[in-house]
This record gives sequence, structure tokens and C-alpha cells, in this order.
Amino acid sequence: MSKETHTEQTQNARTQTASDPLGIRGYDFIEFYVGSAKMVAFWFARALGLDVTAYAGPETGIRDRISYYLTSNRLKFVITSAVQPSNYEVTGFVQKHGDGVKRWAVEVDSVEEAFRYATGHGAVMVTRPHRIEDARGYVDEAAIRLYDDTELVYVNRDHYNQSLRPGYCKPIQDIEFQHEETHLVQVDHIVGNVRENEMNLWADYFNQTMAFETFIDFKAGDIGTKYSALLSKVVRSHGSKIRNPINEPFAGLKKSQIEEYIEHYQGSGVQHIAIATDNIIKSIAALRKNGVEFLSVPDTYYDALRQRPDLKIKEDIAELQKYGILCDIEGTGYLLQLFTKPIGDRPTFFFEFIQRQGGSQGFGKGNFQALFESIELDQKLRGNLDREYQPNMPPCW
Ligand SMILES: [Fe+2]
Repeated sequence: MSKETHTEQTQNARTQTASDPLGIRGYDFIEFYVGSAKMVAFWFARALGLDVTAYAGPETGIRDRISYYLTSNRLKFVITSAVQPSNYEVTGFVQKHGDGVKRWAVEVDSVEEAFRYATGHGAVMVTRPHRIEDARGYVDEAAIRLYDDTELVYVNRDHYNQSLRPGYCKPIQDIEFQHEETHLVQVDHIVGNVRENEMNLWADYFNQTMAFETFIDFKAGDIGTKYSALLSKVVRSHGSKIRNPINEPFAGLKKSQIEEYIEHYQGSGVQHIAIATDNIIKSIAALRKNGVEFLSVPDTYYDALRQRPDLKIKEDIAELQKYGILCDIEGTGYLLQLFTKPIGDRPTFFFEFIQRQGGSQGFGKGNFQALFESIELDQKLRGNLDREYQPNMPPCW
């Protein structure tokens, strides 16, 4: 690093220290480890409408793995799989957890400063600050531990404007995807599912090591149906650039969706990523056309929504109903949201699509009842609602 650059970065970091000691600018990339990157990347491109913008693999000097880099506006996803069994970091993850989120990154003013603050306040180190460079420039990265096998990465790419990082090149594959425009803009929040009694531990971890604060605390009875329940805390960074709900199961008559996740993921990890859209009606219409599968909402949900005295929304409820979009009103604002079914084979990771109107800050608490009932129907079909596996066994055709 040149002396000039170092001074610039240090000054940036110092300026940031007054408000946020980590100098967090926002979400950066999210990396999934999967069984077959080529096929999962195809789904992300074809179904979510993302562009395959870069590729890394044996042809680009990386021998043991393949990664596709997909983007749309400020969304950045990396899909990675192993091409050699000796790459146990990837194969071991997928064998245990199935396809899932290995790491998510936040962009910071200075990786070194952010890492020093976090580890100095108790964060578990995974990767020390290091520089990845080529002739075009460099990217700084470091990582700390999160949940069981997940990592939180600090990244700064001020000195690299080519794709994700050195090692990635233009896709060598002849990929041209026909898909509907999906209007996806950026990550809104990332949610973790953890075991019973782990929620406070991880909320405290964020608050202590990254100077976050807990700003929503859903207690027993706030979220759940008569069958299944959960506890949830939402932590956020300075200025709310990063919002991270953490769920843990709570005792209910039957097995909660969080318990089902923990069993199938074999531990704690990322449950869902909420993607902000600038037009949720167009987004859901396009995503449905692209073949994305969503949780279903009963018509009675919209009958109840129409009866609400505080209902002041710009969108036509008939259109929301047509596409199955949920609406939660909070104060002067409201949010529109919808959840996919799990995107892989295991009932673990799924996506949420969200549009916030009028400064809405919530997560759809008013929709939890309808949502949980819909999830319970799917859990029942999988035989996972009761504590003992109860196969549904419908006539197959
Ligand atoms: Fe969410």
C-alpha cells in the first residue's frame, strides 16, 4: 500500500469512528456453498433475473473450486462448489448443511480498522486482514466467525473496480438467459436461525463486537400460532445499514419452523435473505413467471386487510391478492413482502422480497400469523410438524 493511500484510509476510518467504529457502508456480497455451482447459478440467473457477471475456476487459475458471480443493481451473490473432493472446506459444508450461505460481507471504510475493533471486542477470528491483488488493483478482506460455520466478511474494494476480486474473469461460458426483469435492488436484511438459548448470545456478539444495538425484541407470545412459536431479536448497525434478525425456537405444541431448520441444516445458520425491490408487484409477477415458488396466502387474509381502518396504501389490494403479496401497516408506513418456499432440497434457506413504503422499519409482524400457518401446512406435508416424523402419504397421482 502506498503511503498516500494508507493515510487516506486511516483518515476515512477516523472520520467514521465518530459515528460507527467499524465504518460500515452497507451489505456487500453473499456467498453460497452448493453441490453444483453451475446449476444453482443457472437458477439464480433464470429465476431471480440476475446477471452472471464473472467466473472463477480452473480456467482462471483456481483449481479446486468453481464460483459464479451474479449481480443486479447493488445485489452481489457468489455461488461456489468444489471440483475436487480434497476441497473439504466446501464439500464438508455442503455435506453437513446442504446448499446454504457460507459467508456474507459488509463493505467497510477500512478492513484493518473494522477487524481490529471486532476482534478487540471479542469477535472470533477466521481470516486476518489480507490483500488480494492483480495488475488492476486490490481488494482487502478479513473475516470473523458467525453462528456455527458461517462467516462475516469485511471488505473494501475502493482500489478495484473489476468484478468481485482478483481471480474472477468474464464468464467463459456461453450463457444467455431469457428471463423477466425482476426489479431487485439490494439486500434489506439477513436472518439467522439459532438453537434454543443461543439468540441472546449472538445478539450480544453483534452488539459487542460490531457496536450494533438490539432494536426489536419479540418475546414469547409475540410470534407464533397455537402449534409453533419462536423468539426473535433484531440487531442493527449504526444508521441501520445492516439489519440482522436472529430467531430461536420456543416451546409450542408442535415442532416450530426453526426446529425444523436446525434439524435439517444441522445447526445454526442463515435462514433467509430479504431482497428489496423498487416495485414488488412487478417483481413478484416476474419471479412467478420465471418459476419461483412462493408460500401461499389464503383469500381470507385479504378480506381482513380490506377491513382495516388504518389501511392507506397506494397499491391496489386486488393486485396484491392476485400475486399473493402480504402487507403490514405500522404507524405511517407499511411494508409489502412475500416469501419463497425453501429454494433447495432441505427445508432450510429461502428468500424474502420486500418493498418498504413511508419509512417502514419493521419486518412484517402483522403477517407472522398468516405466514406461520402457511409454513405449518408445508411442514405437515413434509411430515415435520409433529415431533415424530408423520408421513403425509397423499395419493401420488
Ligand atoms: Fe425477513
